[in-house]
Amino acid sequence: MRFKTLRDLDVKGHRVFLRADLNVPLKDGTITDATRIKETLPTLDLLLKSGASVVLASHLGRPKGAGFEAEFSLAPVAAWLKAQGCDLTLAAAVAGPEVEAQAAALRPGQALLLENLRFEKGETRNDEALSQALARLADTYVDDAFGCAHRAHASVAGMVAHFPPDRVAAGFLMEKELSALGRIMHDPKRPLLAVMGGSKVSDKIGIIRHFFGKADTILVGGAMTFTFLKAMGVPIGNSRCEEDKLDLALELRQEAEAAGTRLLLPVDHLVAAKPDAQAECAITQDQAVPDGQMGLDIGPETVALYTEEVRKARTILWNGPMGVFELDPFAAGTLTLAEEMADAAGQGAFVLVGGGDSVTAAAKAGVTGRLSHISTGGGASLEFLSGMELPGVTALER
Ligand code: 3PG
Ligand code: MG
Repeated sequence: MRFKTLRDLDVKGHRVFLRADLNVPLKDGTITDATRIKETLPTLDLLLKSGASVVLASHLGRPKGAGFEAEFSLAPVAAWLKAQGCDLTLAAAVAGPEVEAQAAALRPGQALLLENLRFEKGETRNDEALSQALARLADTYVDDAFGCAHRAHASVAGMVAHFPPDRVAAGFLMEKELSALGRIMHDPKRPLLAVMGGSKVSDKIGIIRHFFGKADTILVGGAMTFTFLKAMGVPIGNSRCEEDKLDLALELRQEAEAAGTRLLLPVDHLVAAKPDAQAECAITQDQAVPDGQMGLDIGPETVALYTEEVRKARTILWNGPMGVFELDPFAAGTLTLAEEMADAAGQGAFVLVGGGDSVTAAAKAGVTGRLSHISTGGGASLEFLSGMELPGVTALER
């Protein structure tokens, strides 16, 4: 890696600004999944135990950027950390004289959690005045916010330049994420298989293209299947389809062939009149979807075909579900492949889940702990795997 990590840094007696991605899902003020907080604890714990004080910062959701909004307060995160025994105070604001005084009063082993960075409109605008105000809160900068690395925001981009290069480092989660994603991108063990699902081809074009010539095989599932099939002249009934992406779908098939990557499409589907758990389901004879029906999961023959590929692979990237797995009748394709990928990992394959819906699907399949790496960043991992530069990483590399 072309940047310092926590191991290269002496933090004793220093005040460290720790940018984490504590953007956890909330329901009625309660955290429904604390994974992102848990994943950043090794960094926070090490800093506090090594005699640093920590100014901890994150965004949460997408507030308007016009000051405090109770719904987006980091108070639930503060409560969660305190319940873990962390000596932490929640600041009343993001920056400013009062927060500076609170930061200055921190003793080694203590943490101050700033309020939601996005309460300041300067955060998402990468505003220079906010960057300076944040930088005044500490003498050292540590970035563990992989999930936000694709955003050129003040707390992950602009403010970093205000620290001397030898006082800037990546946290353990940032390092772990980048090295796991790097294993897929650089010199993977072959065969390299990409399992791509989800509803839109347009969301996945970048990543699919980037894997042409890199992946041996790409398996396509989810509603994006039907954009490919329609482009090929196969009847798709009422299946979801991006009409304006038909030409693109054909191009992608040609590019795959030219690059020597097999792009496999489902050979049968589970169909119903609508995505409703009570709807009557049927399995198609072939790739065609009958009139009045829509494809909602891959069919059993496809599951068998895709399973073969998973079993052969030594490196697997999984990004996106194979069907409407949120509804039990349409979950089998996704859950069976999740189970197969977990078995593959058990046999020594490196299996990476690229964040987002696939993480939820892995949890539903009960295989979370058996996969090699589950990214905490959906958008960030997608952009990284599409070959795009991540502003949050570039800032560390300076
Ligand atoms: C995420 O949840 O994807 C990250 O925390 C980034 O949040 P954003 O998509 O609102 O920028
Ligand atoms: Mg996001």
